[in-house]
Amino acid sequence: MDQTAQTRALIEARTQRTRWFLHDRFGMFLHWGLYAIPARGEWVRNRERISVEDYEPFFQEFNPTHFDPNQWARAAKEAGMRYAVLTAKHHDGFCLFDSALTDYKSTNTPCKRDLVREFLDAFRAQGLKVGLYYSLLDWHHPDYPHYGDLHHPMRDNPAYGNEGRNFDNYLQYLHGQVRELLTNYGKIDIMWFDFSYENMAGETWKAQELVDMARSLQPHLIIDNRLEGSGDRKGSIETETPSPFAGDFACPEQMIPPEGMTDGAGHSIPWEACITLNDNWGYCAHDHHYKSAKMIIRSLVECVSKNGNLLLNVGPDAKGEFPPEAIEILKQVGQWMRRNSDSIYGCGASGFPKPEWGRYTQQGNKLYAHIYEECMGPICLKGLAGKIDSMRLVQDGSELQPGNFWNMNGYDNDAFFTFGGSSYPLPDQQDTVVEIRLRNGETNKTE
Ligand code: GLC
Repeated sequence: MDQTAQTRALIEARTQRTRWFLHDRFGMFLHWGLYAIPARGEWVRNRERISVEDYEPFFQEFNPTHFDPNQWARAAKEAGMRYAVLTAKHHDGFCLFDSALTDYKSTNTPCKRDLVREFLDAFRAQGLKVGLYYSLLDWHHPDYPHYGDLHHPMRDNPAYGNEGRNFDNYLQYLHGQVRELLTNYGKIDIMWFDFSYENMAGETWKAQELVDMARSLQPHLIIDNRLEGSGDRKGSIETETPSPFAGDFACPEQMIPPEGMTDGAGHSIPWEACITLNDNWGYCAHDHHYKSAKMIIRSLVECVSKNGNLLLNVGPDAKGEFPPEAIEILKQVGQWMRRNSDSIYGCGASGFPKPEWGRYTQQGNKLYAHIYEECMGPICLKGLAGKIDSMRLVQDGSELQPGNFWNMNGYDNDAFFTFGGSSYPLPDQQDTVVEIRLRNGETNKTE
Protein backbone atom coordinates (compact mmCIF):
# COMPACT_ATOMS: atom_id res chain seq x y z
CA MET A 1 0.00 0.00 0.00
CA ASP A 2 1.55 3.37 -0.97
CA GLN A 3 2.07 6.15 1.55
CA THR A 4 -1.03 8.10 0.53
CA ALA A 5 -3.25 5.04 0.73
CA GLN A 6 -1.69 4.17 4.08
CA THR A 7 -2.39 7.65 5.41
CA ARG A 8 -5.97 7.55 4.12
CA ALA A 9 -6.51 4.20 5.82
CA LEU A 10 -4.99 5.46 9.07
CA ILE A 11 -7.22 8.55 9.11
CA GLU A 12 -10.32 6.53 8.21
CA ALA A 13 -9.62 4.09 11.07
CA ARG A 14 -9.08 7.05 13.43
CA THR A 15 -12.39 8.54 12.31
CA GLN A 16 -14.23 5.31 13.04
CA ARG A 17 -12.58 4.80 16.43
CA THR A 18 -13.26 8.36 17.63
CA ARG A 19 -16.93 8.56 16.54
CA TRP A 20 -18.28 7.88 20.09
CA PHE A 21 -15.62 10.16 21.60
CA LEU A 22 -16.54 13.14 19.45
CA HIS A 23 -20.22 12.52 20.17
CA ASP A 24 -19.84 12.33 23.96
CA ARG A 25 -17.73 15.51 24.21
CA PHE A 26 -17.35 15.69 28.03
CA GLY A 27 -15.19 13.57 30.34
CA MET A 28 -13.69 13.48 33.81
CA PHE A 29 -9.93 13.32 34.37
CA LEU A 30 -8.82 11.90 37.72
CA HIS A 31 -5.30 12.49 39.07
CA TRP A 32 -4.83 10.45 42.22
CA GLY A 33 -1.96 8.71 44.00
CA LEU A 34 0.64 9.04 46.74
CA TYR A 35 1.09 12.75 45.93
CA ALA A 36 -2.36 13.38 47.48
CA ILE A 37 -0.68 12.98 50.90
CA PRO A 38 1.94 15.78 50.59
CA ALA A 39 -0.99 17.54 48.86
CA ARG A 40 1.22 19.96 46.92
CA GLY A 41 0.35 18.72 43.42
CA GLU A 42 1.53 15.71 41.42
CA TRP A 43 4.91 17.28 40.52
CA VAL A 44 5.93 17.64 44.17
CA ARG A 45 8.87 15.22 43.79
CA ASN A 46 10.17 17.18 40.81
CA ARG A 47 9.74 20.62 42.35
CA GLU A 48 11.13 19.71 45.78
CA ARG A 49 13.70 17.20 44.45
CA ILE A 50 12.34 14.48 46.72
CA SER A 51 14.23 11.18 46.48
CA VAL A 52 12.48 7.80 46.29
CA GLU A 53 13.66 7.18 49.86
CA ASP A 54 12.16 10.44 51.17
CA TYR A 55 8.91 9.74 49.31
CA GLU A 56 8.69 6.20 50.74
CA PRO A 57 6.75 7.18 53.91
CA PHE A 58 3.78 8.12 51.72
CA PHE A 59 3.82 4.62 50.21
CA GLN A 60 3.87 3.11 53.70
CA GLU A 61 0.96 5.38 54.72
CA PHE A 62 -1.37 5.39 51.69
CA ASN A 63 -4.81 4.21 52.84
CA PRO A 64 -7.72 6.19 51.33
CA THR A 65 -10.33 4.90 53.76
CA HIS A 66 -13.13 7.02 52.28
CA PHE A 67 -12.56 5.90 48.68
CA ASP A 68 -15.92 5.03 47.14
CA PRO A 69 -15.59 4.73 43.34
CA ASN A 70 -19.39 4.49 43.00
CA GLN A 71 -19.66 7.97 44.54
CA TRP A 72 -17.07 9.28 42.07
CA ALA A 73 -18.89 7.65 39.17
CA ARG A 74 -22.26 9.09 40.20
CA ALA A 75 -20.73 12.55 40.50
CA ALA A 76 -19.29 12.27 36.99
CA LYS A 77 -22.53 10.95 35.49
CA GLU A 78 -24.65 13.59 37.22
CA ALA A 79 -22.31 16.27 35.90
CA GLY A 80 -23.16 15.09 32.39
CA MET A 81 -19.80 13.43 31.78
CA ARG A 82 -19.82 10.46 29.41
CA TYR A 83 -16.32 9.07 30.00
CA ALA A 84 -13.57 9.18 32.61
CA VAL A 85 -9.79 8.72 32.67
CA LEU A 86 -7.88 7.72 35.84
CA THR A 87 -4.12 7.83 36.39
CA ALA A 88 -3.06 4.18 36.52
CA LYS A 89 0.54 5.34 37.02
CA HIS A 90 1.75 8.94 37.18
CA HIS A 91 5.29 10.27 36.87
CA ASP A 92 6.15 9.13 40.43
CA GLY A 93 5.87 5.53 39.21
CA PHE A 94 3.28 4.51 41.83
CA CYS A 95 0.84 2.01 40.31
CA LEU A 96 -2.83 2.17 41.27
CA PHE A 97 -3.25 -1.39 39.95
CA ASP A 98 -2.04 -4.87 40.89
CA SER A 99 0.84 -5.11 38.46
CA ALA A 100 2.89 -8.32 38.47
CA LEU A 101 5.88 -6.26 37.34
CA THR A 102 6.43 -4.17 40.43
CA ASP A 103 5.95 -4.04 44.19
CA TYR A 104 5.36 -0.28 43.96
CA LYS A 105 1.60 -0.57 43.77
CA SER A 106 -1.58 0.20 45.68
CA THR A 107 -2.17 -3.46 46.62
CA ASN A 108 1.08 -3.33 48.62
CA THR A 109 0.11 -0.24 50.59
CA PRO A 110 -2.13 -0.32 53.70
CA CYS A 111 -5.10 0.19 51.34
CA LYS A 112 -4.44 -3.19 49.69
CA ARG A 113 -6.90 -2.39 46.90
CA ASP A 114 -6.64 -2.54 43.10
CA LEU A 115 -7.92 1.02 42.65
CA VAL A 116 -7.92 0.84 38.84
CA ARG A 117 -10.18 -2.20 38.87
CA GLU A 118 -12.60 -0.56 41.31
CA PHE A 119 -12.61 2.63 39.22
CA LEU A 120 -13.33 0.71 36.01
CA ASP A 121 -16.11 -1.38 37.53
CA ALA A 122 -17.85 1.61 39.13
CA PHE A 123 -17.71 3.93 36.10
CA ARG A 124 -18.78 1.20 33.66
CA ALA A 125 -21.70 0.45 36.01
CA GLN A 126 -22.84 4.06 35.52
CA GLY A 127 -22.65 3.62 31.75
CA LEU A 128 -19.53 5.74 31.26
CA LYS A 129 -16.71 4.81 28.92
CA VAL A 130 -13.40 4.37 30.71
CA GLY A 131 -9.80 5.33 30.06
CA LEU A 132 -6.47 4.99 31.77
CA TYR A 133 -3.71 7.57 31.96
CA TYR A 134 -0.25 6.00 31.93
CA SER A 135 2.90 8.06 32.50
CA LEU A 136 5.75 7.36 30.08
CA LEU A 137 8.03 9.02 32.64
CA ASP A 138 8.85 7.02 35.73
CA TRP A 139 10.75 8.64 38.58
CA HIS A 140 10.77 5.44 40.65
CA HIS A 141 12.11 2.92 38.13
CA PRO A 142 15.90 2.39 38.52
CA ASP A 143 16.41 2.11 34.73
CA TYR A 144 14.77 5.44 33.89
CA PRO A 145 17.32 8.25 33.30
CA HIS A 146 17.98 10.23 36.49
CA TYR A 147 20.89 12.71 36.47
CA GLY A 148 20.67 15.15 33.57
CA ASP A 149 17.12 14.20 32.64
CA LEU A 150 14.91 17.26 32.01
CA HIS A 151 12.31 16.38 34.67
CA HIS A 152 13.59 13.66 37.04
CA PRO A 153 13.62 14.73 40.73
CA MET A 154 17.35 13.74 40.88
CA ARG A 155 18.21 15.55 37.64
CA ASP A 156 20.71 17.89 39.32
CA ASN A 157 22.34 15.30 41.59
CA PRO A 158 25.50 13.67 40.16
CA ALA A 159 25.16 10.93 42.76
CA TYR A 160 22.29 9.71 40.57
CA GLY A 161 24.37 9.14 37.44
CA ASN A 162 23.03 6.84 34.77
CA GLU A 163 25.85 4.28 34.73
CA GLY A 164 24.31 0.81 34.64
CA ARG A 165 20.81 2.02 33.92
CA ASN A 166 19.34 -0.12 31.15
CA PHE A 167 16.61 1.84 29.36
CA ASP A 168 15.54 -1.29 27.46
CA ASN A 169 14.66 -2.86 30.81
CA TYR A 170 12.48 0.16 31.49
CA LEU A 171 10.80 -0.14 28.08
CA GLN A 172 10.06 -3.82 28.75
CA TYR A 173 8.47 -2.72 32.03
CA LEU A 174 6.46 0.07 30.35
CA HIS A 175 5.20 -2.16 27.52
CA GLY A 176 4.56 -5.00 29.98
CA GLN A 177 2.39 -2.81 32.21
CA VAL A 178 0.40 -1.47 29.26
CA ARG A 179 -0.15 -5.08 28.23
CA GLU A 180 -1.36 -5.88 31.77
CA LEU A 181 -3.80 -2.94 31.73
CA LEU A 182 -5.17 -3.91 28.30
CA THR A 183 -5.37 -7.63 29.12
CA ASN A 184 -6.50 -7.94 32.75
CA TYR A 185 -9.10 -5.20 33.11
CA GLY A 186 -11.74 -5.75 30.44
CA LYS A 187 -12.66 -3.26 27.73
CA ILE A 188 -10.64 -0.10 27.96
CA ASP A 189 -11.86 2.74 25.73
CA ILE A 190 -9.02 5.26 26.03
CA MET A 191 -5.27 4.98 26.68
CA TRP A 192 -3.96 8.38 27.72
CA PHE A 193 -0.14 8.34 27.55
CA ASP A 194 1.78 11.28 29.08
CA PHE A 195 4.21 12.72 27.86
CA SER A 196 7.07 13.06 25.37
CA TYR A 197 9.87 15.60 25.66
CA GLU A 198 13.21 16.30 23.99
CA ASN A 199 14.45 13.00 22.52
CA MET A 200 12.18 11.07 24.88
CA ALA A 201 9.56 10.71 22.18
CA GLY A 202 8.28 8.39 19.48
CA GLU A 203 10.55 5.42 18.87
CA THR A 204 12.51 6.14 22.05
CA TRP A 205 9.43 4.60 23.71
CA LYS A 206 9.26 1.96 20.93
CA ALA A 207 5.98 3.64 20.17
CA GLN A 208 5.16 1.66 17.00
CA GLU A 209 5.51 -1.65 18.89
CA LEU A 210 3.52 -0.25 21.82
CA VAL A 211 0.64 0.98 19.65
CA ASP A 212 0.61 -2.25 17.59
CA MET A 213 0.38 -4.27 20.80
CA ALA A 214 -2.33 -2.02 22.24
CA ARG A 215 -4.42 -2.18 19.08
CA SER A 216 -3.99 -5.96 18.80
CA LEU A 217 -5.38 -6.34 22.33
CA GLN A 218 -8.15 -3.71 22.08
CA PRO A 219 -8.74 -2.72 18.42
CA HIS A 220 -11.39 -0.11 19.31
CA LEU A 221 -9.03 1.68 21.75
CA ILE A 222 -8.36 5.38 21.19
CA ILE A 223 -4.97 6.77 22.11
CA ASP A 224 -3.84 10.36 22.71
CA ASN A 225 -0.99 12.05 20.82
CA ARG A 226 1.57 12.22 23.62
CA LEU A 227 3.71 9.31 22.44
CA GLU A 228 5.01 12.01 20.11
CA GLY A 229 4.32 15.19 22.02
CA SER A 230 2.88 16.89 25.05
CA GLY A 231 0.28 19.60 25.70
CA ASP A 232 2.02 22.09 23.42
CA ARG A 233 4.07 19.73 21.17
CA LYS A 234 1.33 18.09 19.14
CA GLY A 235 3.32 15.73 16.96
CA SER A 236 2.35 14.48 13.52
CA ILE A 237 -1.40 14.28 14.22
CA GLU A 238 -1.51 17.92 13.06
CA THR A 239 0.08 17.05 9.71
CA GLU A 240 -1.29 15.47 6.54
CA THR A 241 0.89 12.42 7.18
CA PRO A 242 0.32 11.33 10.78
CA SER A 243 2.68 8.59 11.97
CA PRO A 244 1.28 5.21 13.10
CA PHE A 245 1.73 6.41 16.70
CA ALA A 246 0.46 9.97 16.16
CA GLY A 247 -2.55 9.04 18.28
CA ASP A 248 -6.27 9.39 17.63
CA PHE A 249 -6.72 12.76 19.32
CA ALA A 250 -4.66 15.77 20.32
CA CYS A 251 -4.80 16.97 23.91
CA PRO A 252 -4.14 20.69 24.35
CA GLU A 253 -3.61 21.40 28.02
CA GLN A 254 -5.00 24.22 30.19
CA MET A 255 -6.15 26.08 27.08
CA ILE A 256 -8.69 25.90 24.26
CA PRO A 257 -7.19 26.19 20.75
CA PRO A 258 -8.34 29.57 19.33
CA GLU A 259 -9.41 28.03 16.00
CA GLY A 260 -9.95 24.41 17.06
CA MET A 261 -7.43 21.96 15.58
CA THR A 262 -6.87 20.88 11.98
CA ASP A 263 -4.35 18.86 10.01
CA GLY A 264 -2.10 20.29 7.31
CA ALA A 265 -4.98 20.24 4.81
CA GLY A 266 -7.33 22.18 7.11
CA HIS A 267 -9.42 19.14 8.03
CA SER A 268 -10.62 19.11 11.63
CA ILE A 269 -8.77 16.56 13.76
CA PRO A 270 -10.11 15.00 16.98
CA TRP A 271 -8.98 16.96 20.02
CA GLU A 272 -9.73 17.19 23.72
CA ALA A 273 -8.75 20.08 25.96
CA CYS A 274 -7.68 18.82 29.40
CA ILE A 275 -8.29 21.39 32.11
CA THR A 276 -7.99 21.46 35.89
CA LEU A 277 -10.84 22.61 38.13
CA ASN A 278 -8.38 24.60 40.25
CA ASP A 279 -4.70 25.04 39.30
CA ASN A 280 -3.46 21.53 40.04
CA TRP A 281 -3.99 18.07 38.56
CA GLY A 282 -3.17 16.22 41.75
CA TYR A 283 -4.71 17.19 45.08
CA CYS A 284 -3.31 20.46 46.43
CA ALA A 285 -4.66 21.35 49.86
CA HIS A 286 -3.96 25.11 49.64
CA ASP A 287 -5.20 25.54 46.08
CA HIS A 288 -8.71 27.00 46.36
CA HIS A 289 -8.47 28.83 43.04
CA TYR A 290 -11.42 27.02 41.47
CA LYS A 291 -13.08 27.87 38.20
CA SER A 292 -16.79 28.70 38.41
CA ALA A 293 -19.47 26.40 37.02
CA LYS A 294 -20.21 29.15 34.50
CA MET A 295 -16.60 29.08 33.30
CA ILE A 296 -16.70 25.28 32.98
CA ILE A 297 -20.00 25.36 31.07
CA ARG A 298 -18.72 28.04 28.70
CA SER A 299 -15.39 26.19 28.26
CA LEU A 300 -17.29 23.03 27.32
CA VAL A 301 -19.43 25.01 24.85
CA GLU A 302 -16.31 26.63 23.39
CA CYS A 303 -14.66 23.23 22.89
CA VAL A 304 -17.75 21.81 21.17
CA SER A 305 -18.16 24.96 19.06
CA LYS A 306 -14.66 24.18 17.74
CA ASN A 307 -15.25 20.43 17.23
CA GLY A 308 -13.43 19.53 20.45
CA ASN A 309 -13.97 17.77 23.77
CA LEU A 310 -13.39 18.85 27.35
CA LEU A 311 -11.68 16.53 29.86
CA LEU A 312 -12.21 18.20 33.23
CA ASN A 313 -9.89 17.17 36.04
CA VAL A 314 -10.66 16.34 39.67
CA GLY A 315 -7.82 15.63 42.11
CA PRO A 316 -9.18 13.46 44.97
CA ASP A 317 -7.53 13.84 48.39
CA ALA A 318 -5.55 11.27 50.42
CA LYS A 319 -8.78 9.93 51.94
CA GLY A 320 -10.25 9.28 48.50
CA GLU A 321 -12.72 12.17 48.65
CA PHE A 322 -13.38 14.85 46.01
CA PRO A 323 -12.65 18.35 47.33
CA PRO A 324 -15.92 20.02 48.46
CA GLU A 325 -15.50 22.81 45.90
CA ALA A 326 -15.24 20.23 43.12
CA ILE A 327 -18.40 18.47 44.28
CA GLU A 328 -20.35 21.75 44.24
CA ILE A 329 -19.08 22.85 40.82
CA LEU A 330 -19.82 19.44 39.27
CA LYS A 331 -23.35 19.61 40.73
CA GLN A 332 -23.98 23.03 39.19
CA VAL A 333 -22.56 21.97 35.83
CA GLY A 334 -24.81 18.90 35.98
CA GLN A 335 -27.90 21.06 36.57
CA TRP A 336 -27.12 22.98 33.39
CA MET A 337 -26.27 19.81 31.45
CA ARG A 338 -29.48 18.10 32.55
CA ARG A 339 -31.49 20.82 30.79
CA ASN A 340 -29.18 21.72 27.90
CA SER A 341 -27.06 18.70 26.92
CA ASP A 342 -28.85 18.44 23.54
CA SER A 343 -26.61 21.36 22.57
CA ILE A 344 -23.47 19.41 23.54
CA TYR A 345 -23.72 15.67 22.81
CA GLY A 346 -23.40 14.93 19.10
CA CYS A 347 -22.80 18.61 18.33
CA GLY A 348 -19.86 20.40 16.77
CA ALA A 349 -18.89 23.60 15.02
CA SER A 350 -21.47 25.56 13.06
CA GLY A 351 -20.80 27.15 9.69
CA PHE A 352 -22.28 30.40 10.93
CA PRO A 353 -19.82 33.03 12.20
CA LYS A 354 -19.46 33.38 15.97
CA PRO A 355 -22.24 35.71 17.16
CA GLU A 356 -21.47 38.74 19.32
CA TRP A 357 -23.59 37.52 22.25
CA GLY A 358 -22.08 34.04 22.63
CA ARG A 359 -21.40 30.93 20.57
CA TYR A 360 -23.08 28.42 18.23
CA THR A 361 -22.93 24.65 18.34
CA GLN A 362 -24.75 22.58 15.72
CA GLN A 363 -25.99 19.10 14.94
CA GLY A 364 -27.44 18.64 11.46
CA ASN A 365 -30.16 21.26 10.94
CA LYS A 366 -30.34 22.02 14.68
CA LEU A 367 -28.36 25.17 15.40
CA TYR A 368 -27.87 25.93 19.10
CA ALA A 369 -27.47 29.54 20.12
CA HIS A 370 -25.58 29.82 23.42
CA ILE A 371 -26.45 33.30 24.65
CA TYR A 372 -24.11 34.77 27.27
CA GLU A 373 -24.50 38.54 26.78
CA GLU A 374 -27.73 40.40 27.42
CA CYS A 375 -28.75 42.48 24.39
CA MET A 376 -30.27 45.97 24.56
CA GLY A 377 -32.82 45.27 21.81
CA PRO A 378 -34.09 42.06 20.17
CA ILE A 379 -31.42 39.40 19.88
CA CYS A 380 -29.88 39.36 16.40
CA LEU A 381 -29.43 36.06 14.51
CA LYS A 382 -27.11 37.33 11.82
CA GLY A 383 -27.74 35.96 8.34
CA LEU A 384 -30.62 33.77 9.48
CA ALA A 385 -33.53 35.66 7.94
CA GLY A 386 -35.77 33.18 6.10
CA LYS A 387 -33.74 30.18 7.29
CA ILE A 388 -35.58 29.38 10.52
CA ASP A 389 -38.22 26.70 10.69
CA SER A 390 -38.78 26.85 14.49
CA MET A 391 -37.13 27.93 17.73
CA ARG A 392 -37.25 26.52 21.26
CA LEU A 393 -35.75 27.52 24.57
CA VAL A 394 -33.84 24.30 25.27
CA GLN A 395 -34.10 24.37 29.05
CA ASP A 396 -37.89 24.06 29.08
CA GLY A 397 -38.84 23.32 25.46
CA SER A 398 -40.94 26.49 25.21
CA GLU A 399 -41.56 28.03 21.80
CA LEU A 400 -39.72 31.18 20.76
CA GLN A 401 -40.64 33.10 17.64
CA PRO A 402 -38.44 35.20 15.39
CA GLY A 403 -40.33 38.44 15.00
CA ASN A 404 -40.61 41.72 13.12
CA PHE A 405 -39.56 44.60 15.32
CA TRP A 406 -40.34 48.20 14.33
CA ASN A 407 -36.90 49.31 15.46
CA MET A 408 -35.02 46.59 13.55
CA ASN A 409 -36.11 47.43 10.00
CA GLY A 410 -33.45 47.43 7.31
CA TYR A 411 -31.55 44.39 8.53
CA ASP A 412 -33.15 42.13 5.91
CA ASN A 413 -30.61 39.26 6.14
CA ASP A 414 -30.95 38.93 9.88
CA ALA A 415 -33.58 37.42 12.15
CA PHE A 416 -34.47 38.77 15.61
CA PHE A 417 -36.21 37.44 18.69
CA THR A 418 -36.85 38.14 22.34
CA PHE A 419 -37.87 36.11 25.36
CA GLY A 420 -41.53 37.00 25.54
CA GLY A 421 -41.07 40.63 24.62
CA SER A 422 -37.77 41.41 26.28
CA SER A 423 -34.28 40.09 25.70
CA TYR A 424 -33.16 40.51 29.31
CA PRO A 425 -32.68 39.26 31.92
CA LEU A 426 -31.54 36.04 30.23
CA PRO A 427 -33.32 32.90 31.47
CA ASP A 428 -29.93 31.44 32.44
CA GLN A 429 -27.08 33.86 33.13
CA GLN A 430 -24.53 31.05 32.72
CA ASP A 431 -25.65 30.15 29.21
CA THR A 432 -29.15 30.43 27.76
CA VAL A 433 -29.53 27.92 24.94
CA VAL A 434 -31.97 28.32 22.06
CA GLU A 435 -32.50 25.54 19.53
CA ILE A 436 -33.01 26.92 16.03
CA ARG A 437 -34.31 24.37 13.54
CA LEU A 438 -33.09 25.44 10.12
CA ARG A 439 -35.29 25.21 7.05
CA ASN A 440 -34.68 22.92 4.03
CA GLY A 441 -32.05 20.81 5.76
CA GLU A 442 -29.77 23.87 5.79
CA THR A 443 -26.90 22.67 7.97
CA ASN A 444 -24.22 25.18 7.07
CA LYS A 445 -21.89 22.81 8.93
CA THR A 446 -18.15 22.93 8.80
CA GLU A 447 -16.62 19.45 8.93
C1 GLC B 1 1.21 17.50 32.28
C2 GLC B 1 1.69 17.22 33.69
C3 GLC B 1 1.06 16.02 34.29
C4 GLC B 1 -0.41 15.92 34.04
C5 GLC B 1 -0.71 16.18 32.57
C6 GLC B 1 -2.20 16.21 32.32
O1 GLC B 1 1.79 16.55 31.42
O2 GLC B 1 3.06 16.93 33.64
O3 GLC B 1 1.29 16.03 35.68
O4 GLC B 1 -0.77 14.60 34.36
O5 GLC B 1 -0.18 17.42 32.18
O6 GLC B 1 -2.41 16.60 30.98
